[in-house]
Amino acid sequence: MSRPRIHVTRQLPEAVEARLAERFEINEPGDETAHTRAGLEAAMCEADGLLPCVTDAIDASLLALPGRRVQIVANFGVGVNNIDVAAAEAAGVIVTNTPDVLTDATADLAMALVLAATRRMSETEAILRRGDWHGFSPTGWLGMGLQGKTLGILGMGRIGQATARRAALGFGMRIAYFNRSPVGPFDFPAEACDSIEALLAVSDVVSLHVPGGGPQPLTAERIARMKPGAYLVNTARGDVVDETALAEALASGRLAGAGLDVFAKEPSVPDALLALPNVTLLPHIGSATLETRTAMGMLAVDNLMAHFDGAPLPSRVRS
Ligand code: DGY
Repeated sequence: MSRPRIHVTRQLPEAVEARLAERFEINEPGDETAHTRAGLEAAMCEADGLLPCVTDAIDASLLALPGRRVQIVANFGVGVNNIDVAAAEAAGVIVTNTPDVLTDATADLAMALVLAATRRMSETEAILRRGDWHGFSPTGWLGMGLQGKTLGILGMGRIGQATARRAALGFGMRIAYFNRSPVGPFDFPAEACDSIEALLAVSDVVSLHVPGGGPQPLTAERIARMKPGAYLVNTARGDVVDETALAEALASGRLAGAGLDVFAKEPSVPDALLALPNVTLLPHIGSATLETRTAMGMLAVDNLMAHFDGAPLPSRVRS
C-alpha cells in the first residue's frame, strides 16, 4: 500500500522528522521553495497532507485549486490565522493545530518581555555594548518594579492565564483581564474588566493574548487610552496592535516601553520600531524551546497519523 505524501514547509526538529519519515513519504525541499506561493500550489496537488507553519498563508484560492489532492492541513502552531478555516471546511479539507504544548513556553517569554521592558534590558545592554557605560549610577536607567503593579491580560485563554499565573504568584502583580466570554475561576486572584477600555485604564503593563486575523483589538484610539507610562507586551500576533500608533506612543514617551515577539508583516519589522531604544524586539520565538517545538511537531504528526488511520483527531480546528 502506498504511503501518504506530506509536504513539510520548514525544517522540523530531528525527532519529529524521524517520526514523520517512519510513516509517510516526505516532500521537504528544505529551502524557501517549500513555502513560496508556487511551492505551496504545487504541494496542494502533489501531496496528501500539508504541514505548514504559522506564517504560510493557506488561503481560499489555494484550497480551491483544481486538482487539489491535500486532505489535511496540520498547522505547526496553535494560531490558525494563516489558514482560511472556513474555506478549508467548504473544500472538505481538515485543519488541525498544536494547542497546550506551547502554553508554558509562550507564557515564559511573555513574562521575560514584561521584565525586559520594565527593566529596560535592551536599551541598557545596547549602551553597554557600544562602550557608553561609565559606571554604576544610583539614578541611572531606573525601570518600574512589578510588585503590586497591575498586569492587564487581553485574552484570558490558555496562554493569557499561564502568563497571569506567573505574574501573580511569581512576581506579586495584580491581575486584571478582559475576555470576550466568561472564564475562570483561576488559582490566582484576578479581576475581570467589562471592556478593553476598562482594562487599559487600570493596567501598568498590558499583555496581549488574542488571536490574529480578526478586528484589531488594540487600535490607535485604544493605545491613546493606555495609562501614561504604561508598557505593552505582545506574544500573540502583530496585527492585533496598530504598530504605527504604538511606535508613535513609544517615541513620544507616552508609553514607557514595549516587548514585541510578533509583527504584522513578518519577517519585516517597521523601521519606526527598529529605531526606538525602549522596545525589545524578538523574532517570533515564543514557543522556541527544543522541548516545545518538538512537542508541537509531534502533535502535528499525531494529527496526520490519526487522519490517515481513520482515528479521532487530537486537535481539530473548526471555523
Ligand atoms: C503559534 O503557535 O501560534 C505561535 O505563534 C508559534 O508557536
